[in-house]
Amino acid sequence: MDTVYKPTIKIFPEESGVDRYVADKVIKQLSIKPDSTLTIATGSTPIGAYKLLADEYDKGNVSFKHARIFSLDEYWPIQKTNPASYAFYVQKYLIDTTDINPENCHIPDGEAPDAAEEARRYDDLLHTYPSDLAIVGIGPGTTYHIGFNEKGSEATSHTRYVTLDPQTIGVNSQYFPNPTDIPKGAITQGIADILMAKKILLLAKGEGKAQAITRTVNGPVGPDAPSSFLRLHPNVTVVVDAGAAGKL
Ligand code: F6R
Repeated sequence: MDTVYKPTIKIFPEESGVDRYVADKVIKQLSIKPDSTLTIATGSTPIGAYKLLADEYDKGNVSFKHARIFSLDEYWPIQKTNPASYAFYVQKYLIDTTDINPENCHIPDGEAPDAAEEARRYDDLLHTYPSDLAIVGIGPGTTYHIGFNEKGSEATSHTRYVTLDPQTIGVNSQYFPNPTDIPKGAITQGIADILMAKKILLLAKGEGKAQAITRTVNGPVGPDAPSSFLRLHPNVTVVVDAGAAGKL
């Protein structure tokens, strides 16, 4: 039987508290180990933290020069020029705004002709650079996804092509210039890959994430709620605003 741990929970009255906490953790990590490997979520939740990191970089308070970044996931298939692609997001919120070397920013290739082959390449690469700190978001509604590990994903899963949950498609299609263009699938790091990070921050904001957070923290650990597998890791901090903490 796997050991189940209790995550540390940090609740902030406002979203800005989540952003500041996460940015400060990244700054601290890079000050202790400038060549850290960071696992990063894309999506709306961490944008505030990435903007603060860009400000702190401008002020000379943090450098990403020696850092390495692995994104959790990318839609497949998708063009990198699509503003809804996570490649576009990483360019906009990290590469364009900090001194990170673009060659050290890794993301599954949404343009790769063969998703399974690309997933294998990505999985091999991320095992070469074990993550020091992972920034993880949680899926909409009752998907309970982390990365794009939708319901049914196992704790032993690795990087692979997955089909997106209809709830994920429903919510994320708003980010596409033409909502019906959202791909049906994605390439995502698996649960086992995410759990390799030394430390994990799970972020959530707003009442819409309250059910997901309570299920993650208080429900049974299993594939019905892939986010619950985070409790198999001894160093997880759940960082939430008052809305997302509403059902704890
Ligand atoms: C994105 C990712 C997803 C998102 C989740 C929440 O890289 O891994 O798991 O973190 O879907 O998305 P937002 O933050 O837009 O609510």
